[in-house]
This record gives sequence, structure tokens and C-alpha cells, in this order.
Amino acid sequence: MSMIETSAKPMGVWKPVPLREQLTETGEKTPDFFVTPGEKLTLSCIKADVGSHTGHVQPHPRMLLKAEEHLTEAIQNKLIIDGVVFRVGDDINLAMTHTKGIESEEIHKLAFDTFVASGKIAQELSLYGAMQDILVSEFSGNVQGMGPGVAEIEFILRKTEPVIVFAADKTSPFAFNRPLYNMFCSPYNSIGLAVDPKFFTGFKFQVKHLKSGADGFFTSPEERTAIEAFLGSEEYAVAHVYSRRIENEPVAACSTTRLSFIAGKYVGKDDPVCIVRSQSGLPAIGEVVNAFHFPGLVPGGMRGSSLRPLMPCSIFNCDPTYNDGPPRVIGLGFQINRGSFIGPTDLLGDISFDESRKLALQIAEYMQRHGVFYPGVLPDKELEYGGKPVIYKIYEDRFPETYRKFKEFEKKHTEAEAKFIHEMEDSD
Ligand code: F6R
Ligand code: MG
Ligand code: MG
Repeated sequence: MSMIETSAKPMGVWKPVPLREQLTETGEKTPDFFVTPGEKLTLSCIKADVGSHTGHVQPHPRMLLKAEEHLTEAIQNKLIIDGVVFRVGDDINLAMTHTKGIESEEIHKLAFDTFVASGKIAQELSLYGAMQDILVSEFSGNVQGMGPGVAEIEFILRKTEPVIVFAADKTSPFAFNRPLYNMFCSPYNSIGLAVDPKFFTGFKFQVKHLKSGADGFFTSPEERTAIEAFLGSEEYAVAHVYSRRIENEPVAACSTTRLSFIAGKYVGKDDPVCIVRSQSGLPAIGEVVNAFHFPGLVPGGMRGSSLRPLMPCSIFNCDPTYNDGPPRVIGLGFQINRGSFIGPTDLLGDISFDESRKLALQIAEYMQRHGVFYPGVLPDKELEYGGKPVIYKIYEDRFPETYRKFKEFEKKHTEAEAKFIHEMEDSD
């Protein structure tokens, strides 16, 4: 852990360094296990909140070191080629390169075991929310549905491969909808869409309906307005973006977990991660990061129940403190050299995002002044904790009988919807 001077006092800062690079620096041998351009490589980014201090602010450095230990062992055992451990707010993120493809049981087990080991340290230190995102006691095949968030892509490694991994805290997968739409569909964000014939060919979007888990596919530019219609809603999120020029080549992926749907009750916000490949017929690095310059409102912040601006941040300044927010997003840029990571560059920490941060803080303050009055907090159905219905129930005798009947009807209607989704899942 390195130290950094802030305007107040020096504070501990986690500096993410690729693990192969760390091994080389300490003179340790690394296995000769690489992927050459033209071959398939998988990039998995898996995240979980397994405990933090103070409250929901940041994982303890010992937890991050434990995660590094696990991934280093996996490099030595040739399970992964390289790994980087980084954090945003209270979330630990594991970026890993390997050749096992997406949804690999071995890779997901590695992530699960790593989070459990870090969570145990959180328990030992009596940290807050220890094991928060570990919803099951045993790993069974795929970490998706057990709590952690997953973004993965398997692709053919180019001669030179710039990729960016974004991670956001105190928000939901919706946070990446507008940025991904803008990067891949809007010439106002990415002028390359109109000036680069390789980029002009457009993309295929895999859009997930978060409650049912169902996927719908849309192509841009033809179906741009339909993509806008779905991605404009918090009920949908981008799961993958594919190239059309190189058919079905994945170019972006996003985690689409909704913990509240898995657990059936509030167990934390589904802080998302996202992978974007860049350059040569894809959005340039500048076009990718442009999409985060406007700090648009996203669900999240205090108690996961507010609408607050998504503030682009440096990896060295990503502690959500003011009103448990504002929601933060960091962007780590890497070049992939035969499967190992070169980097990261702290892409959203640049001075050119200073004004966005200032604006985000002003918006956060403006929204905060609404208190609990909408839109200071989300509409009742979107509230985490299920708190308001409980309070309404206590006071239902203050209203006439029609009110109680209507609320019963409304509740049954929602239960019927949940039952339908579960029945459909079971029949799949
Ligand atoms: C939001 C978040 C925090 C907590 C809040 C209360 O995603 O993590 O805003 O909701 O700090 O936390 P508890 O209920 O654990 O006291
Ligand atoms: Mg937490
Ligand atoms: Mg978090």
C-alpha cells in the first residue's frame, strides 16, 4: 500500500499493480503461459463487497492483499495468465485474463474463494458488512446468482489490445446504459461513428431484462431508437455489445446482477463493472471516456434509494463519503500484452474531469436538499430496504377501507408477477 498526500493528511491508498509485473519486480519466476495475437483470450472482471471500513466506504488493505495472494497463486498454477486487484468504494474487483472462456467454473470458483478469504479477514477485523455479497455457503458452478457481479468477454486478441475496465460504487447496472449507448451509438459522443468506415458498420446490443433475466438483441444504427427506449429504463441493462464488422465479436460487457432479485430482500446495491475494448474500428479511448464526462443521474447513493450523479473519479479518490456518495465510477485502462496487463492508466482521474466532478458535487447537493421528498429519494417501488411499505402498513388505519383493499390488490399483483418469473425460470 502506498501513501498519498491529500489536502488533509496522508491517507492509505490502494495502488493496483498487475500481479505478473509484481512477480517480475520481486525477481520471482512466472510461468511461461501466454496467448498470441489471433488466439482467443478471456477477460473476466468479477466484483464483490465482502466487508469494509468505516461503514460502507472502503475494503481494508489486508483484504486486498489477501485477494492478490489468491490470484498470484492462480498465475503460478497457470489457471490465469494475469490478474489485477482494485477497488472502488467498498467493492473489491478482480480483473483476470485466461483461456477458459466465459462462465468458466474454475475461474468463478477462484473468484468465489478469493472473496470468501477476503471476507474472512473482514470478519476477523469486525469490519462492516463482512461477507455482504456472499449469499450462499457453498460454491456451485457459477458465481452469477451467488452475489458477486460479473463482466466477461472472450475475444480474438488483436496485435495491440487497449481495454478499459470500469467499476462503479453505490449504484446499479443501469449506470452503464447511457455511457455504453453513447460510446457505440451516438456520433455526438463518438465522432468515429460518422468518420471511420470501420466504426460506421455499427454494433449488436444484448439487452437484459433484469427481473426476468431474459435477453433481447438489437442492432445499431438501424434500431437506435428502440435501443434508447429499452436502455432508458432502469428495468433493462446492457449485458454485451458485439461488433457487426467482425460478426459476433464481443467488444463490451457489463455485469447485470440484481442482488435484491436474487436474495428477495435488500442485501446491498448491485454495484456494476463493465469492460470496453477500444481503438481500430471501436470507440477511441477518448470516445469511451467521453461518455462519463456528463455526470448523469443514476439510482443509488444513500441507502441505494436516491437519484444521484455518477461522479467520474480517480482510483486514488474513490471513497463515497458525502451522503454515502455520490455514486462513483473509475476507469482503468490497460494494454494487453500476450494476455498480461500493462497499466493501468487512471483514465477518469485526469484534470479534464475536474469540472464534471465539480458539477456532480453541485448536483448531489441540489438533490440532497430535497430530503426524502421525491426525487430526493426514488419512487416507492424502487426503494431498497422495503421500508416505506412497512411504514404505510403501520398507518393504514388512518385511511379509509378502500385504501387497504387497494394496497392488498397491488401487493397480490406484484406477488403474481414474481411467481410468474420463478415458474418460467424453473421451466427453462
Ligand atoms: C448504499 C449503501 C449505503 C447503505 C447505508 C446504510 O448502496 O451501501 O448507503 O445503504 O450506509 O447501511 P446499513 O443499512 O448497513 O446501516
Ligand atoms: Mg458495503
Ligand atoms: Mg459497493
